[in-house]
Formats: sequence, structure tokens, C-alpha cells
Amino acid sequence: MIYITGDCHRNFERFNTKNFPRQKEMTKDDYVIICGDFGGVWDKDTSGREETWWLNWLENKPFTTLFVDGNHENFDRLYSYPVEKWKGGKVHKVRPSVIHLMRGQVYLIGGKKIFSFCCSSSMQACIGEGMYEPDALTQYFQDLERTVKFKYWFFGHYHDNRNLAGQKILLYEQMIRIA
Ligand SMILES: [Fe+2]
Repeated sequence: MIYITGDCHRNFERFNTKNFPRQKEMTKDDYVIICGDFGGVWDKDTSGREETWWLNWLENKPFTTLFVDGNHENFDRLYSYPVEKWKGGKVHKVRPSVIHLMRGQVYLIGGKKIFSFCCSSSMQACIGEGMYEPDALTQYFQDLERTVKFKYWFFGHYHDNRNLAGQKILLYEQMIRIA
């Protein structure tokens, strides 16, 4: 099983058994992917005990947690973990089953080929209705959108749950099953 969801900002309430009962049928070979702003690796210096508690809580879940980084991460801390190869791409393992999928990598996870990054200028325009300016990164993703074949493109960051043209899906707190 693979579930996918949006930004957490260190609030992992959606993964508790009451909100996500399906986890009772899951194993470490089943995955929950967070599309950015994981926030679980943040301020060890000030409240490390709380951070450790939540990371251990995720580690003790029956499933494996995977996350792509968003703009709200502590990149210094995230990148202080050693880079390892996992399922064909580079990762940081925060815990054995709490794993950072690095940007621009391709993984084969549960029979799905997954390419990790964020969203393009045209998707951003569709969501923001003129509110967001394209930048070099969203333009780069625009080129990828034109040239890369994909079945679904899931992304977070904009704090909403929306389905754009069927295969482009913005996620926030909603969790959807993709395999
Ligand atoms: Fe966010």
C-alpha cells in the first residue's frame, strides 16, 4: 500500500490510529509519502526531546514514512544525516523507517516509479489565480512537465486539497491511496 499526503509542519495527528485506521493492515513495506514541509527535523537544540519523541512515534508506526522536503524544513539538520542509497535514489534516513527522499531522485517504491520534486508555473498559476509569480524553479518544473511522461503529479506547499486536470493533484491534510 502507498498513501500520499501534503504538508505536516510537524503535526502528525493525521497518522494516529483513529484518523488513519488503515495502518492496522500495513507493514514496513507499506508507505506514507509526505509532499513537503515534513517539519519533523527542526529544532533539536531547543526542544530536542519533543522532536525525538515524534520521530520515534513515527518509527514505531507499522508503515514506513517517506517525505520530500518543502520550504519549511531545517535543511542544515536534514543534510547533516549521511546520504544513503535506497530503492534506487539518494535519501537521508532520519530513522530506519522515517526517510527523506531527496529532490530530483528517482525511486522504485512498491512497484511505482517515483520522481521527487515540487510543482510547475502553470500548476501554480492554476491554484493561485494570479497570486503567485513564477520563478526559476517553477519554470524548470514547467520544462519537466512538458518533457517527462508521468501518470500522476502530487504536490503540497499550497495548503489545499485540489485536483487539477485529473493527473495533477495538490494535497494538504488529505491522505489518498495510490497503490
Ligand atoms: Fe507548508
